[in-house]
Amino acid sequence: MGDRVSQSSNAAADPFRPRWAGGRTGRWAVWKFNWLANSRILAALERVRHHACGDLLDVGCGSKPFAHVFDGRLARYWGTDLTASRYLGGARLDAFACADAQPFRDGSFDTVLGLSMITYLPEPLRFLREAHRVLRPDGMLILEFTQMVPLHDEPYDFFRYTRYGAQYLLEQAGFEPVAFVPIGGLWSRVGLTMIAGLNRVNRGPTRLLTELPVRLLYTVIQTLARLMDVLFGDEREVLAHLVVARRRP
Ligand SMILES: C[S@@+](CC[C@H](N)C(=O)[O-])C[C@H]1O[C@@H](n2cnc3c(N)ncnc32)[C@H](O)[C@@H]1O
Repeated sequence: MGDRVSQSSNAAADPFRPRWAGGRTGRWAVWKFNWLANSRILAALERVRHHACGDLLDVGCGSKPFAHVFDGRLARYWGTDLTASRYLGGARLDAFACADAQPFRDGSFDTVLGLSMITYLPEPLRFLREAHRVLRPDGMLILEFTQMVPLHDEPYDFFRYTRYGAQYLLEQAGFEPVAFVPIGGLWSRVGLTMIAGLNRVNRGPTRLLTELPVRLLYTVIQTLARLMDVLFGDEREVLAHLVVARRRP
């Protein structure tokens, strides 16, 4: 899921105040376009963090915005990405590498993580087989499979995945899925589509005029979408699934 985000059990109950982000003025505040998706990713990660342990490799890690979720669970958090990534921020990476060619020996990691990155891969199965290779026996893969988000980062936006497609690919690569955690719901999808429309309006020389109303609309749309998902959630119509899968020997 394009420019995005994430969060702990009690903290997840109040996505308006992600404690790691410094409250309402934080990186993913509700008046910013990416709050809705990112707060849901954070909540999903909090639900699966107990599956992570030992050495974790974050593939396509960008600026590692969710690393804090795993505090206290890991021996070490490793990260790799492409040199050309525009998402690195000031993050220190362990290596620059394509997802399907990681510069590590077989069986080097206990956990492999991939967030908002599989849509960028023209051959996702090659990445999944690489994750299988670098994982130790019984290692865990935690991977976000995007089901619906607006087109982004063209021309590197290749695929969307249902949970059935995700399961099929994982089994092909030698994994056994153990958990599917929904990220967002139908109303988040509606909200994200509206925000994509607003983002197209809020650019160019007229931005001076549109910025404030657009930010107000972000706040209203994202708050309403979240509320509607809580009230009328449908776990099939999601933005994405966070899937936990065990490496089969
Ligand atoms: C939307 S960003 C997500 C970054 C980070 N995982 C996060 O959740 O914020 C997608 C990342 O995938 C990386 N990426 C795209 N294609 C890749 C490839 N073939 N191999 C490795 N990383 C790739 C990009 O460079 C970018 O950093």
